[in-house]
Amino acid sequence: MAEAFNSVELPQDKAARYAALAEEIAAVLEGEPDLTARMAVVAGMLAQSFPHFFWTGFYRVDPSRPGELVLGPYQGTLGCLRIPFGKGVCGAAAGRRETVVVEDVHAFPGHIACDSRSASEIVCPVFGAAGELIAVLDVDSEIPAAFDGTDAEGLNRILSRVFAA
Ligand code: SME
Repeated sequence: MAEAFNSVELPQDKAARYAALAEEIAAVLEGEPDLTARMAVVAGMLAQSFPHFFWTGFYRVDPSRPGELVLGPYQGTLGCLRIPFGKGVCGAAAGRRETVVVEDVHAFPGHIACDSRSASEIVCPVFGAAGELIAVLDVDSEIPAAFDGTDAEGLNRILSRVFAA
Protein backbone atom coordinates (compact mmCIF):
# COMPACT_ATOMS: atom_id res chain seq x y z
CA MET A 1 0.00 0.00 0.00
CA ALA A 2 2.71 2.44 1.01
CA GLU A 3 4.44 1.71 -2.26
CA ALA A 4 1.40 2.84 -4.21
CA PHE A 5 1.58 6.25 -2.56
CA ASN A 6 5.29 6.64 -3.18
CA SER A 7 5.45 5.55 -6.80
CA VAL A 8 4.84 8.11 -9.50
CA GLU A 9 4.44 7.28 -13.13
CA LEU A 10 4.63 9.20 -16.35
CA PRO A 11 1.12 10.10 -17.55
CA GLN A 12 0.13 8.72 -20.94
CA ASP A 13 -2.10 11.67 -21.84
CA LYS A 14 0.25 14.61 -21.38
CA ALA A 15 -0.88 16.63 -24.41
CA ALA A 16 -4.55 16.44 -23.38
CA ARG A 17 -3.68 17.37 -19.80
CA TYR A 18 -1.68 20.40 -20.90
CA ALA A 19 -4.53 21.53 -23.16
CA ALA A 20 -7.09 21.21 -20.34
CA LEU A 21 -4.75 22.91 -17.90
CA ALA A 22 -4.19 25.85 -20.25
CA GLU A 23 -7.96 26.48 -20.25
CA GLU A 24 -8.24 26.15 -16.47
CA ILE A 25 -5.33 28.52 -15.83
CA ALA A 26 -6.70 31.08 -18.30
CA ALA A 27 -10.11 30.95 -16.59
CA VAL A 28 -8.61 31.38 -13.10
CA LEU A 29 -6.41 34.30 -14.19
CA GLU A 30 -9.05 36.16 -16.18
CA GLY A 31 -8.81 39.84 -15.18
CA GLU A 32 -5.86 39.35 -12.78
CA PRO A 33 -2.93 41.54 -13.85
CA ASP A 34 -0.56 40.90 -10.94
CA LEU A 35 2.52 39.04 -12.14
CA THR A 36 3.28 37.34 -8.82
CA ALA A 37 -0.27 36.00 -8.60
CA ARG A 38 -0.08 34.78 -12.20
CA MET A 39 3.19 32.95 -11.55
CA ALA A 40 1.88 31.45 -8.31
CA VAL A 41 -1.22 30.06 -10.04
CA VAL A 42 0.82 28.52 -12.89
CA ALA A 43 3.29 26.90 -10.45
CA GLY A 44 0.52 25.61 -8.18
CA MET A 45 -1.75 24.26 -10.90
CA LEU A 46 1.13 22.53 -12.72
CA ALA A 47 2.16 20.81 -9.48
CA GLN A 48 -1.41 19.60 -8.89
CA SER A 49 -1.93 18.38 -12.45
CA PHE A 50 1.20 16.27 -12.79
CA PRO A 51 2.12 14.14 -9.76
CA HIS A 52 5.52 13.28 -11.25
CA PHE A 53 6.56 16.96 -11.00
CA PHE A 54 8.15 17.55 -7.61
CA TRP A 55 9.35 21.10 -8.22
CA THR A 56 7.51 23.62 -10.38
CA GLY A 57 8.27 27.30 -10.34
CA PHE A 58 9.84 30.47 -11.57
CA TYR A 59 13.19 32.16 -11.44
CA ARG A 60 12.64 35.83 -12.29
CA VAL A 61 14.99 38.17 -14.11
CA ASP A 62 16.15 40.62 -11.41
CA PRO A 63 16.33 44.17 -12.82
CA SER A 64 18.39 45.30 -9.84
CA ARG A 65 21.08 42.69 -10.55
CA PRO A 66 21.61 42.31 -14.29
CA GLY A 67 22.54 38.81 -15.41
CA GLU A 68 20.97 37.16 -12.39
CA LEU A 69 17.81 35.17 -11.78
CA VAL A 70 16.08 35.25 -8.40
CA LEU A 71 13.68 32.69 -6.98
CA GLY A 72 10.00 33.44 -7.62
CA PRO A 73 6.72 31.67 -6.86
CA TYR A 74 7.14 27.91 -6.72
CA GLN A 75 5.87 24.61 -5.31
CA GLY A 76 8.38 22.14 -3.93
CA THR A 77 11.36 21.80 -1.65
CA LEU A 78 13.73 24.69 -1.00
CA GLY A 79 15.24 26.01 -4.22
CA CYS A 80 18.47 27.99 -4.39
CA LEU A 81 17.77 31.73 -4.25
CA ARG A 82 19.88 33.13 -7.08
CA ILE A 83 21.21 31.71 -10.35
CA PRO A 84 23.52 33.63 -12.69
CA PHE A 85 22.68 33.60 -16.41
CA GLY A 86 24.61 30.76 -18.03
CA LYS A 87 24.80 28.64 -14.86
CA GLY A 88 22.89 25.38 -14.48
CA VAL A 89 19.84 24.51 -16.54
CA CYS A 90 17.90 27.63 -15.56
CA GLY A 91 20.84 29.88 -16.38
CA ALA A 92 21.32 28.12 -19.72
CA ALA A 93 17.67 28.60 -20.69
CA ALA A 94 17.80 32.28 -19.65
CA GLY A 95 21.10 32.92 -21.45
CA ARG A 96 20.01 31.17 -24.67
CA ARG A 97 16.37 32.27 -24.40
CA GLU A 98 15.47 28.72 -25.36
CA THR A 99 13.72 25.78 -23.77
CA VAL A 100 16.23 23.30 -22.34
CA VAL A 101 15.21 19.66 -21.77
CA VAL A 102 17.58 17.58 -19.63
CA GLU A 103 17.01 13.81 -19.52
CA ASP A 104 19.69 13.22 -16.87
CA VAL A 105 20.54 16.20 -14.68
CA HIS A 106 23.68 14.48 -13.38
CA ALA A 107 25.11 14.53 -16.89
CA PHE A 108 24.40 18.25 -17.41
CA PRO A 109 27.54 20.35 -16.91
CA GLY A 110 27.04 22.86 -14.09
CA HIS A 111 23.67 21.52 -13.01
CA ILE A 112 22.68 23.08 -9.68
CA ALA A 113 21.53 20.29 -7.39
CA CYS A 114 18.96 21.87 -5.08
CA ASP A 115 17.37 18.50 -4.29
CA SER A 116 19.03 15.12 -4.81
CA ARG A 117 15.72 13.63 -5.96
CA SER A 118 15.84 15.66 -9.16
CA ALA A 119 16.54 13.26 -12.04
CA SER A 120 15.36 15.21 -15.08
CA GLU A 121 14.07 18.66 -15.84
CA ILE A 122 12.76 21.15 -18.35
CA VAL A 123 13.31 24.90 -18.22
CA CYS A 124 11.38 27.30 -20.48
CA PRO A 125 12.08 31.00 -20.95
CA VAL A 126 9.15 33.26 -20.08
CA PHE A 127 8.59 36.31 -22.28
CA GLY A 128 6.43 39.36 -21.60
CA ALA A 129 4.14 41.14 -24.06
CA ALA A 130 7.04 43.10 -25.59
CA GLY A 131 9.08 39.93 -26.13
CA GLU A 132 11.33 40.70 -23.17
CA LEU A 133 12.64 37.86 -20.99
CA ILE A 134 10.94 38.14 -17.59
CA ALA A 135 11.69 34.75 -16.01
CA VAL A 136 12.25 31.06 -16.61
CA LEU A 137 9.88 28.26 -15.63
CA ASP A 138 11.72 25.31 -14.05
CA VAL A 139 10.00 21.92 -13.75
CA ASP A 140 11.83 19.00 -12.12
CA SER A 141 10.92 15.32 -11.88
CA GLU A 142 12.31 12.41 -9.93
CA ILE A 143 11.70 10.24 -12.99
CA PRO A 144 14.65 10.15 -15.43
CA ALA A 145 13.90 11.48 -18.94
CA ALA A 146 10.44 12.62 -17.87
CA PHE A 147 10.27 15.51 -20.37
CA ASP A 148 10.05 15.65 -24.15
CA GLY A 149 8.69 17.82 -26.94
CA THR A 150 5.12 17.37 -25.69
CA ASP A 151 6.07 19.02 -22.40
CA ALA A 152 7.97 21.78 -24.18
CA GLU A 153 4.99 22.53 -26.40
CA GLY A 154 2.41 22.27 -23.62
CA LEU A 155 4.35 24.45 -21.20
CA ASN A 156 5.33 27.07 -23.76
CA ARG A 157 1.70 27.39 -24.90
CA ILE A 158 0.62 28.05 -21.33
CA LEU A 159 3.45 30.53 -20.77
CA SER A 160 2.78 32.57 -23.89
CA ARG A 161 -0.93 32.70 -23.10
CA VAL A 162 -0.40 33.76 -19.48
CA PHE A 163 2.57 36.13 -19.79
CA ALA A 164 2.87 37.38 -23.39
CA ALA A 165 -0.78 38.05 -24.20
N1 SME B 1 17.75 22.68 -11.42
C1 SME B 1 18.13 24.03 -11.53
C2 SME B 1 18.34 24.68 -10.21
C3 SME B 1 17.09 25.09 -9.56
S1 SME B 1 16.35 23.88 -8.73
O1 SME B 1 16.30 22.63 -9.33
C4 SME B 1 14.95 24.33 -8.05
C5 SME B 1 19.29 24.28 -12.45
O2 SME B 1 20.28 23.55 -12.55
O3 SME B 1 19.19 25.28 -13.11
